[in-house]
Amino acid sequence: MLKNWSRKSNNLVHHFNIDTAGTHTCQVYSGNGTLEILADRIRIYNQKKVLLLIDENVDKLYGRKITEILLSEGFDPAVHKIPSGETSKSAGKWLEAVDFCFESGVNRKTPLVAVGGGVTGDLAGYVAASVMRGIPLVQVPTTLLAMVDSSLGGKTGINHHTGKNLIGAFYQPDTIISDIIFLETLPAREWRCGMAEIIKYGAIADPDLFTLAARFKLGFSDPAKLMELITRCARIKAAIVAEDELEAGRRAWLNYGHTFAHALEALTGYRRFSHGEAVYIGMVAAHKLSNLLGAKLDEFPLFQFLDSYRLSVADLKPRIHELVAKMFLDKKSLNNTVRVVLLHRYGHPRIVDITDLSLLEKAWDFALDTCN
Ligand SMILES: NC(=O)c1ccc[n+]([C@@H]2O[C@H](COP(=O)([O-])OP(=O)(O)OC[C@H]3O[C@@H](n4cnc5c(N)ncnc54)[C@H](O)[C@@H]3O)[C@@H](O)[C@H]2O)c1
Repeated sequence: MLKNWSRKSNNLVHHFNIDTAGTHTCQVYSGNGTLEILADRIRIYNQKKVLLLIDENVDKLYGRKITEILLSEGFDPAVHKIPSGETSKSAGKWLEAVDFCFESGVNRKTPLVAVGGGVTGDLAGYVAASVMRGIPLVQVPTTLLAMVDSSLGGKTGINHHTGKNLIGAFYQPDTIISDIIFLETLPAREWRCGMAEIIKYGAIADPDLFTLAARFKLGFSDPAKLMELITRCARIKAAIVAEDELEAGRRAWLNYGHTFAHALEALTGYRRFSHGEAVYIGMVAAHKLSNLLGAKLDEFPLFQFLDSYRLSVADLKPRIHELVAKMFLDKKSLNNTVRVVLLHRYGHPRIVDITDLSLLEKAWDFALDTCN
């Protein structure tokens, strides 16, 4: 499986930069066999020690190979495993990782490499942001979701018991290396999770992505097209982040479907639905709400993916008022209104503050019927 990670092979690599506020440049690489760039990218810090924060499942599959690559390049990797799952985005796991950094002899130039999905990336990013007020960060995303979304843009953080992602910092990685080789072992459910974010980019920015994404409904096939899909999504996010790093405006478009999704995740204790499943249901609700407010969106582009996201959700219909109440708790909702991203038409989002609860209830009713 790892045969493509030989040094200096001619593997196909896409490369671009994300420049934020003219003060920081992040180099983004995606492709097949891209991981071979890792050693070259961390050599720029002129340090022997490398801190590796790695998801425990990813460690079982790829950890030995990654440390071998680093050792063979003369680095001294120190490895800290992050238990798989959302519960690792906690103050306790953050402190354990910070302890690990100091016990490994970190200095202000020691690179920290995050290897895993969004959970590892968000936690490790916040560790890198906080140790000595910031050490170099390299993201090596290993899930589709992390490759197209969470590794990019510098949002790092952990959860608080009162809500998701409530503690954190904006902290940009210096390098992001997305190697599609990792995706060969990605479970189907995680694949769907990433696909939901890709569909989101289709809805808010690039409707052609609907057609490209439909090819990958069922999982890994056609590496060249997969690379194109990942790079296209990453570039969309990069362009938005470069313009609005701190989410003063259009970065909020990336939350399409998410205000609904966060309510669903919170109501069901973050266990019943994966983030991507909740985001898809949320996008169906946002689609309905957009049309209730005058848009004329076709159903096909979004609904062609329904079969991948049909979940048993009928039991939530009597709890729609609770879902609406949760939407008011979202950190983007202010002054007794719910802030949602809706569409004028595909590729043309807008931010709307909703005060009429009955509209939200109708949108939920439709989404729960449609996705059941
Ligand atoms: N920072 C951001 O901008 C941003 C954006 C979107 C989502 N997120 C966050 O991302 C998190 C979700 O990320 P995720 O969906 O990547 O989940 P995850 O990190 O929990 O990974 C999902 C599962 O896949 C496994 N896994 C990872 N890579 C694998 C591989 N190559 N092969 C086999 N198994 C593998 C993991 O062990 C885990 O069990 C959430 O906490 C969410 O809040 C952050």
